[in-house]
Amino acid sequence: MKRIPLIWVTAVSISVILFSCSSSKKVTGSGATTLRDAYKNDFLIGTALNSQQIEEKDSNAAKLVPEQFSAATPENIMKAEIIHPQWGNYNFDLADKMIAYGKKHNILINGHTLIWHSQLPAYARNIKDVDSFKTFFKDHITTIASRYNGKIYSWDVVNEALNEDGTMRKSIFLDKLGDDFVTEAFRLAQKAAPNTNLYYNDYNIEQPKKRAGAIALIKKIQAAGVRIDGVGIQGHWHLNKIPLKEIEESIQEFSALGIKVMFTELDIEVLKRDFQGADVSQRVASNPELNPYVNGLPDSVQLQLANDYENLFKLFINYKDKIDRVTFWGVSDGQSWLNGWPVRGRTNYPLLFDRQYKPKPAYYKVLELKTKKNAEQQKPF
Ligand code: XIL
Repeated sequence: MKRIPLIWVTAVSISVILFSCSSSKKVTGSGATTLRDAYKNDFLIGTALNSQQIEEKDSNAAKLVPEQFSAATPENIMKAEIIHPQWGNYNFDLADKMIAYGKKHNILINGHTLIWHSQLPAYARNIKDVDSFKTFFKDHITTIASRYNGKIYSWDVVNEALNEDGTMRKSIFLDKLGDDFVTEAFRLAQKAAPNTNLYYNDYNIEQPKKRAGAIALIKKIQAAGVRIDGVGIQGHWHLNKIPLKEIEESIQEFSALGIKVMFTELDIEVLKRDFQGADVSQRVASNPELNPYVNGLPDSVQLQLANDYENLFKLFINYKDKIDRVTFWGVSDGQSWLNGWPVRGRTNYPLLFDRQYKPKPAYYKVLELKTKKNAEQQKPF
């Protein structure tokens, strides 16, 4: 057999290496072509996943999610009505799949949520005596949090305990357990999940009055010697009305408490609504006037959405040391909860990917904030 000269082998290998490197750098100067990659030194980029997506039955999402996102939150399947449907009877099937999905794709999972007044199973809503309710509360937190201790990155331990004026929301938890139920929830979660980050999560807590309530709540938990690692600002905002000033103040004030700040359910509503926030019990009757973009989004709105996302992410980048994660509430427009709430059957466009899972102009704005800057930094002197 004829021997191939070593110099040829070397030349061929070098060109193969060079070719494969250049072909993997597709779009930008920095080489980052996805959100998770572009923001990897800043904060996690997350998405909410529905059960189809967790089970990888949605083929578009199955490809896109692991490429674009480094964190995920189950949209519904860890809520009490699904994970704890009957007294003492847990259904961990989908939650276990979520954990396995995260492990497989190197995606950090945020558990959502241990204690929330909404999506509670009927038996829990109907518990009358205080001792039985205490048993439900303790068993629920302890069983779920300990099962996933160290396997899940974080928990929204308590969701939406506050009113808009910063006082405690009227709920079955407040009614049966009193003002201290939030601290007690964190105390139980800390015991059951010493290796998981523990967060308080709410909407509109960037607004001054509700923010003051959240700060008081967090200080109360800390004063009791109980661990809280972060706060999640849900971030259900409106086109052309992103409260940038309040968001900035909130990042500063919450992080001054020694905790991380997260944006946990980001979406930007492009349709009309006469109230802010995300109180799931608020509903508005459908009406064609409230659903103007059934056949597509006008360019002007598309552009405004892109600008809003750009300005928001500029602010996030400025505070990257204080922010741990930014999570979108859904992967693509077609699956957003805003198609069904607060008005049923609307065609909404709040996310970065369209109904075909294609990136929208807003996506490119968010990506380019990192890739263009990186490209600048890499310019030779
Ligand atoms: C929503 C889900 O997206 C919907 O599918 C479900 O029908 C209702 O709940 N605040 C929260 C989330 O913390 O859990 C809510 O999610 C949206 C508002």
